[in-house]
Amino acid sequence: MRSNYCGQVDETLIGQEVEVCGWVHRRRDHGGVIFIDLRDREGLLQVVFDPDRADIFAEAERIRSEYVLAVKGLVRERPEGTINPNMKTGQVEVLAHELKVLNRAETPPFHHDEQANEELRLKYRYLDLRRESMLNNLRLRHKVTMAMREFLDADGFVDVETPMLTRATPEGARDYVVPSRTHPGKFFALPQSPQIFKQLLMMSGLDRYYQIVRCFRDEDLRADRQPEFTQLDIEMSFVDEADVTGEMEGMVRHLFKKVLDVDLPTAFPRMSYAEAMQRYGSDKPDLRIDLELIEVSDLMESVDFKVFAGPAADPEGRVAALCLPQGSELSRKQIDDYTDFVGRYGARGLAYIKVNDIDAGRDGLQSPIMKFLPDDAVNGILERTGAKTGDLIFFGADKARVVNDALGALRVKLGEDRGLVADGWSPLWVVDFPMFEKDATGKRWTALHHPFTAPSINDAEALRADAGNALSRAYDMVLNGSEIGGGSIRIHDQELQSAVFDLLDIGKEEAEEKFGFLLRALEFGCPPHGGIAFGLDRIVMLMAGAESIRDVIAFPKTQSAHCPLTNAPGEVSAEQLKEAGIRLRAPRTE
Ligand code: AMO
Ligand code: AMP
Repeated sequence: MRSNYCGQVDETLIGQEVEVCGWVHRRRDHGGVIFIDLRDREGLLQVVFDPDRADIFAEAERIRSEYVLAVKGLVRERPEGTINPNMKTGQVEVLAHELKVLNRAETPPFHHDEQANEELRLKYRYLDLRRESMLNNLRLRHKVTMAMREFLDADGFVDVETPMLTRATPEGARDYVVPSRTHPGKFFALPQSPQIFKQLLMMSGLDRYYQIVRCFRDEDLRADRQPEFTQLDIEMSFVDEADVTGEMEGMVRHLFKKVLDVDLPTAFPRMSYAEAMQRYGSDKPDLRIDLELIEVSDLMESVDFKVFAGPAADPEGRVAALCLPQGSELSRKQIDDYTDFVGRYGARGLAYIKVNDIDAGRDGLQSPIMKFLPDDAVNGILERTGAKTGDLIFFGADKARVVNDALGALRVKLGEDRGLVADGWSPLWVVDFPMFEKDATGKRWTALHHPFTAPSINDAEALRADAGNALSRAYDMVLNGSEIGGGSIRIHDQELQSAVFDLLDIGKEEAEEKFGFLLRALEFGCPPHGGIAFGLDRIVMLMAGAESIRDVIAFPKTQSAHCPLTNAPGEVSAEQLKEAGIRLRAPRTE
């Protein structure tokens, strides 16, 4: 129906006739002449309707926003003074001599407005996706997956599909379950990841696997989490950590070069989990922000302030400082707001010292806790933080977990609020994670990654004896403070795998019932192997500069895992329930 995309009609076509199709972006009436900005996926084109052509002019007068048109006309130079240098097609316009209204449109509930309420945007997602920025995000996503496939194909990775109807995979979230009609009372789980299947493919000898694959996790949602999301999932045989991380750096470098023309460093820096927590209070530090947590526990052990002395003496406690350059200009109200902010992470307060004059001794310092701090503690703080006149030092004192969460988040917040986030891309590997951590009850071990991750201690007996100190052979890729990927070298020894299940309190029977097929497979000649999975949505979100992964997913769900467009999840018929052998409990009434 057309000769050119609207957004591609430029000076080179002046004097020629074109046929274009698209949506009415805007209509303006100017002293008898009608201007329409016609839009398609490539951009906008100005179409002019002259009253000399009475028939189509009358038709053009009835046109409203978002009508779908086909226009035939002559490309001409815009009159001087009306040239728009910000538009690809800004030098030209099309003088219409044929017009077909292909379809009419209701007045849209919002008009190319990113400020529109998100629930409404998602309900009318097809209209929301008409926005240039949203279409660009989808096209960026396409470029990203193309670049990934290109790199992986060239390096011998084979794309294999794995089942969606399967058994539970232990990635730490709740499963989405699907009832089975042919096996009443039994359920499939949708995969939280293809973890076990990709390991089985290594046992088959595939050697290098990848898949761009949907994963399903019923967990609390945030800006960077969706109940169904996409992984670039990868597994390799006969490899160690350096093989996997080296290959993946190459892939990510290729991606950034190809898609954004950005050169990432040839070797990504590496940091241990312990160092990341100590210096940044986070296992995914944003190294673009030049602020660090400074340990001051030892200085606070004997101060006359229980809030500090308690955690300083507690082996699980921590007292840390965070020095904000030029922070003493913060108002009381701003400090109160930051105190509320850290409160969300469990902090019970946010002590601070304003350094009004570093050369004036104690008199130059202003702080609600000054009276509790002896000279040597004060001097120690100033020395370690390197504070200068005009700075402000914040303090966190509590269990280390609370201090790290609170000051780690405050560090990022201050970086954003105070313009301290450097430009550019800052990739990082975080390594040497603990193998296990205690769950909320403090009694049971849980796996920090998943239970198939190889521990640094390779011997089942030694591992049992010292589980708390075992590190895992896992690695996370962090980009600008976001965890974009995570993986590990796997256990390929049946005895070690059983020991890990044991430590995780997965009993023999349960292990057999859930993972018997994996344990069996380990007995039939399993190669050493390892891999990783990247969060595709997160990578595209970062590359697009989007605020939420919902902006780079065509049809995402809301924070409450609901789809306003289709109104899923919905009810099913009594018939379907009966077939699946399910009887619903009456919903609880008031
Ligand atoms: P993991 O659970 O770390 O590892 O997931 C890998 C990456 O997937 C992304 N991701 C998510 N993105 C959006 N919404 C979610 N709900 C969500 N959950 C995770 C993150 C994360 O880094 N099988 C292992 C990988 C392996 O060991 O090879 C796994 O799934 O970017
Ligand atoms: P208070 O004695 O409770 O008034 O606290 C004095 C100062 O210490 C206030 O600025 C509080 O915000 C701060 N504060 C209280 N508890 C903590 C804590 N756990 N960590 C850091 N600062 C705290």
